[in-house]
Amino acid sequence: MKTGILFAVLRLIATTQAKQFDPYLSDLTHQAPRTLHHGWDNLTVETNTGTFIGMYNDTYPNVRQFLRIPFAQRPDMLLAVGLFDPPGQPPVGDLRWEPPQKLSNSSKVYDSTRFGPACPQYVSSSHVFWNEYAPPNPLLSLGERRDQGAVAWSSDEDCLSLAVWTPSYANKSSQLPVALFVTGGGGLIGGITVPSQLPEQWVSRSQEHIVVTINYRVNIFGNPKSRAVRETSLTLLDVRAAVEWVHENIQQFGGDRDNILLWGESQGARLVDIYTTAFWEKPLATKFGLLSNGPDYIINTAEVKDPHVDFDVVAKSLGCDYGDDSGAELECMRHVSWVQIEEFINRYDKKPSISFDNYIPDERYIFANKSDRYAKHLVARGPAIRSTTSTELEPSPNLTHTVEVARNFNCFALSDSKLRESIGLESFRYFYVGNYSNISPQPWLGAYHWTDLLMIFGTYAKMVGDIPQAEIDTSAAMQDYFVAFLKEGANVASSVGWPVFQHQGKNNGSIIEFGARGSPARNVTGGYLDTSCYSPSVSFPIFS
Ligand SMILES: *[C@@H]1O[C@H](CO)[C@@H](O)[C@H](O)[C@H]1NC(C)=O
Ligand SMILES: *[C@@H]1O[C@H](CO)[C@@H](O)[C@H](O)[C@H]1NC(C)=O
Ligand SMILES: *[C@@H]1O[C@H](CO)[C@@H](O)[C@H](O)[C@H]1NC(C)=O
Ligand SMILES: *[C@@H]1O[C@H](CO)[C@@H](O)[C@H](O)[C@H]1NC(C)=O
Ligand SMILES: *[C@@H]1O[C@H](CO)[C@@H](O)[C@H](O)[C@H]1NC(C)=O
Ligand SMILES: *[C@@H]1O[C@H](CO)[C@@H](O)[C@H](O)[C@H]1NC(C)=O
Ligand SMILES: *[C@@H]1O[C@H](CO)[C@@H](O)[C@H](O)[C@H]1NC(C)=O
Ligand SMILES: *[C@@H]1O[C@H](CO)[C@@H](O)[C@H](O)[C@H]1NC(C)=O
Ligand SMILES: *[C@@H]1O[C@H](CO)[C@@H](O)[C@H](O)[C@H]1NC(C)=O
Repeated sequence: MKTGILFAVLRLIATTQAKQFDPYLSDLTHQAPRTLHHGWDNLTVETNTGTFIGMYNDTYPNVRQFLRIPFAQRPDMLLAVGLFDPPGQPPVGDLRWEPPQKLSNSSKVYDSTRFGPACPQYVSSSHVFWNEYAPPNPLLSLGERRDQGAVAWSSDEDCLSLAVWTPSYANKSSQLPVALFVTGGGGLIGGITVPSQLPEQWVSRSQEHIVVTINYRVNIFGNPKSRAVRETSLTLLDVRAAVEWVHENIQQFGGDRDNILLWGESQGARLVDIYTTAFWEKPLATKFGLLSNGPDYIINTAEVKDPHVDFDVVAKSLGCDYGDDSGAELECMRHVSWVQIEEFINRYDKKPSISFDNYIPDERYIFANKSDRYAKHLVARGPAIRSTTSTELEPSPNLTHTVEVARNFNCFALSDSKLRESIGLESFRYFYVGNYSNISPQPWLGAYHWTDLLMIFGTYAKMVGDIPQAEIDTSAAMQDYFVAFLKEGANVASSVGWPVFQHQGKNNGSIIEFGARGSPARNVTGGYLDTSCYSPSVSFPIFS
């Protein structure tokens, strides 16, 4: 009864607050206009798994866009015997909660002029900076409110696709570097269609690189925690499947398969981090990027006795109660609607609490002891970008809190860089401090988690409000540093002056700071940024 009243009150508050957002059902016809009149010749790309027809957007006519390219079998598909080639032993039956299955060679023609659905997820009802400011961090709205508190209309189980943006001149012999981006979202949300992470402006301005962004399964669909699944780290295996597809086919789009940067922000950075130890032998990527990677996402099995309970809670509540028979439980859950499963998790607020954003160490792909992997050199080689922002996640008017969290993120970047340094791997660190009123309308927001992506992708210009020249310059500088890293790898140290980080070097290392007042890019030192990691009495510098 009490919770009933509480919910009614919360709903009332939510309804009142929601008024500032577009009304529910405002625009069900949403579909961005497409331009196909430029001719089809260089918009048609043949790959092993299909022929894809892309598009141009009149705003960026020098960019080819291929918005939906499946890279694995549909997870909602029922597989019949005999579809696969030996010697692999593919599953027969439902693909929900199975590892991504390779696509067969095909010459099927696909319309890639619109985005495919993102993986099953819901739009939170909370009002936080993620959805308060336009363009928001959650998925492109199809007309649902940004505080909908229900499943995202543009999500679906048939979601394993990626998108490719290339300069319009690119062809099979262009050999352009490829930036393969893994979006964030806490392991619960995210995907290609986040408006602030679409790279048209960046590719248009550079004309020297290709961007690929991928969808991957999230929440219980990517990280089921069932005892009966063959693999539990499906989210990571989706990333791997996408990298394999890109490595195999990107040359057709003008990309260089031997120059792939695998990079991600937040949860995307976590996945890149795990990827480097999971697929260290044959990473297929030669460079890595970990932006705002947060600590503590691998379950400590010494503390959590049974990490599988979370799946049981959902299954039993949805009528799949088979006692200890986890196989029957899983089979039953394969036939529950994904919408019902997502909505159940969305609304669940009982004990025990459940979560699907942290990973069970399986010691095959996800390892409990990262330092041990490094000590044994079981880590992908190649230089990496490692960065954080000045106010990170999440800033609040309580500066003590903001400083504490930002410090944790930065000190994790430092310890990661030291770990890499210990086995001769180069790290290029940056610290983003841009504080622009159109992106950070509250004085305490500063350079919060994800806002560096608005600079790199060039989407800051979509934000409402004045854009000072300093913001334009900072974005240009960040794009140029990234493209230099894409083209030259570790040589960026000499080419654009982005020094390798060395914690015992001069002034305890060099870090590039982007977005300081009066200086789009400048060197700061480990002595300045990292001292609070060694001496807790020293304050972390969130004000540049
Ligand atoms: C073209 O780009 C503009 C500006 O970013 C955007 O508003 C529009 O929706 C895009 N059109 C398509 C079809 O993606
Ligand atoms: C698919 O095509 C590629 C390129 O022709 C070839 O190398 C590969 O072996 C083919 N794969 C299968 C499963 O037939
Ligand atoms: C592809 O089309 C675009 C736009 O019409 C054009 O600028 C570009 O030169 C073309 N590239 C090739 C290789 O034909
Ligand atoms: C690719 O484009 C370049 C110019 O950008 C052109 O010289 C070359 O002939 C093209 N190659 C193919 C295979 O179309
Ligand atoms: C993790 O591995 C490192 C290096 O092998 C070792 O020193 C450390 O004790 C291990 N930590 C735990 C918790 O087992
Ligand atoms: C501010 O944050 C700090 C650190 O998280 C916390 O200890 C303190 O209670 C907070 N102060 C207020 C007024 O909420
Ligand atoms: C951001 O800028 C505003 C106004 O210029 C200032 O008041 C505020 O302290 C700055 N915030 C941070 C976190 O740097
Ligand atoms: C940073 O310092 C390096 C030398 O360590 C220098 O080459 C480079 O130009 C500096 N970068 C900036 C942006 O000042
Ligand atoms: C800082 O650098 C100096 C050498 O320049 C080194 O002796 C010292 O150990 C470094 N401090 C840390 C905390 O690594």
